[in-house]
Amino acid sequence: MEIDLVVVAGPEEAAAAAAALLAGAARAASAIVLAGGSTPRRAYELAAAAAPDWSRASVWFGDDRCVPADDPRSNQRLVREALLDRLEALPAVHAVPTSLPPAAAAAAYDAALRRAHLDLVLLGLGADGHTASLFPLAPSLDVLDRLAVSAPAGLEPWVERVTMTIPALSSADRVVFLVAGAEKAAAARRAFGEAPSAATPASLVRSAHGTTTVILDAAAASLLR
Ligand code: 6PG
Repeated sequence: MEIDLVVVAGPEEAAAAAAALLAGAARAASAIVLAGGSTPRRAYELAAAAAPDWSRASVWFGDDRCVPADDPRSNQRLVREALLDRLEALPAVHAVPTSLPPAAAAAAYDAALRRAHLDLVLLGLGADGHTASLFPLAPSLDVLDRLAVSAPAGLEPWVERVTMTIPALSSADRVVFLVAGAEKAAAARRAFGEAPSAATPASLVRSAHGTTTVILDAAAASLLR
């Protein structure tokens, strides 16, 4: 499936490109799925500054770690600190209910997602090729009848996760990957430059009916031809 590769100089430019898409989506009253990890933090800060009113938008989480919402490992905490706490007007926030046991949290998120249409999904890429909490060769990659599932930790931090599935992520009108750093270059090549494979889960996530955009800095793009 077609993807648009956007290669920029460094991590700051990559964050700015992702922030522009997020700010535009927020202004357009979109349902926006956010990523965890460290890479998107700066994009969230820039998006909050560019578009301080998210009141017509809604925010979802592509995955979260099964920890309390104020835990430093929580993706919800990251999004609150870098984005929501900086806004003048808040979106509707659909957090993963991580106070429930993982299977129950996933079932609740699945039920909520069944009533939603996702406009923009932001994703990261792990050096092992994972995205959201869809890890290489994991059973979650084969799930077609659920929009969210619980998943064991595939890497640090070693806590259980709840993750959107490939059908949920691929349902979005726009899927955007944000990838920065030389340590992601080999995974970026497998995810965006080679045939899809369960060994590289990010290679399996593409917008089914819309656009897939990959924003990379030059270091992350260095092995892509
Ligand atoms: C998570 C993420 C995950 C992340 C990648 C990249 O909860 O861990 O959603 O899929 O995007 O692991 O993370 P970094 O940006 O920290 O490298």
